[in-house]
Amino acid sequence: MNSQSFLSKVKDFLINDKKEIPRGFLKNLKNKKFQIIKTHKNNTSLVYMIKEDIFRKFSTNKLGIKKIKDESQGIKWYQKKSRPPFHFLKKTVIKSKYGFIDTKKISGVKKKSWRPLRENYPFLLQAFRHYKKIFKGEKKTKIHGDLTLDNIFFSRKKVVFFDWEFFGSNKKHYGYDLAYLFLSAIILPTLAGKKISKEDEIYFIKLWRILINEKISKKIIKDPFSFYITTIKKDKVLNEGYKISKKKFFPFLIQKKIKNEINKLIKSAIC
Ligand SMILES: Nc1ncnc2c1ncn2[C@@H]1O[C@H](COP(=O)(O)OP(=O)(O)O)[C@@H](O)[C@H]1O
Ligand SMILES: [Mg+2]
Repeated sequence: MNSQSFLSKVKDFLINDKKEIPRGFLKNLKNKKFQIIKTHKNNTSLVYMIKEDIFRKFSTNKLGIKKIKDESQGIKWYQKKSRPPFHFLKKTVIKSKYGFIDTKKISGVKKKSWRPLRENYPFLLQAFRHYKKIFKGEKKTKIHGDLTLDNIFFSRKKVVFFDWEFFGSNKKHYGYDLAYLFLSAIILPTLAGKKISKEDEIYFIKLWRILINEKISKKIIKDPFSFYITTIKKDKVLNEGYKISKKKFFPFLIQKKIKNEINKLIKSAIC
């Protein structure tokens, strides 16, 4: 693709999205071959620059630029804590009219969040070990805010949490993201129409006992649904995300019947 067709493609893309095109922004993308990955309701969009092997998340509006800035800070915070060190943030540009972050392509696989818990269980354990390395030692901690299997890469050597768009939210109890991940692993398959099997139940109880052993807040352990719903509504950044896309946070989507089923499992994990 020559640079002219590239520029017209970006222009089309932005115009279709009814976005203003700042001049400097186009200059930044000039001469790059890219694929549009997706455009979002939450004000940010993503392109993959093929030759550079880089993902660029960008925005041309105020709210989106703030999100990009928060995500950049989130990745920096996370990178500092990762052992062995893993650095995937290449570049952050924040201007008044646009902003973007470039991340190196992360290797590994994403596990499908709508697959049954019994299939994803070993990966959830891997994610737990990684979580501990990053977050352990702090009673109140910054959070990822949307830690589901959709935002984790697994490879033989490492686990990577990415997509830190809610890093601007307030500090929360240790375990916030971990319980959220475990809960998502039993709920997201039900939102895709799957039933919870006996085996899934056993694995869920095992996961919930991990949270108990980790001594995470009783509020989260005993009644996670009320906890997440009130916490998300109370937090400015999370609530903003919820208002923009009501489907973003699964605790709001769950059917009453499933909620009762899971609450029973939680009770038996606590006993
Ligand atoms: N650095 C990266 N390496 C590999 N894949 C990426 C990278 N950044 C984004 N992606 C891909 O693009 C998808 C969307 O990116 P993400 O940051 O999760 O944004 P969102 O979930 O807000 O759309 C990811 O699920 C992943 O498949
Ligand atoms: Mg994501």
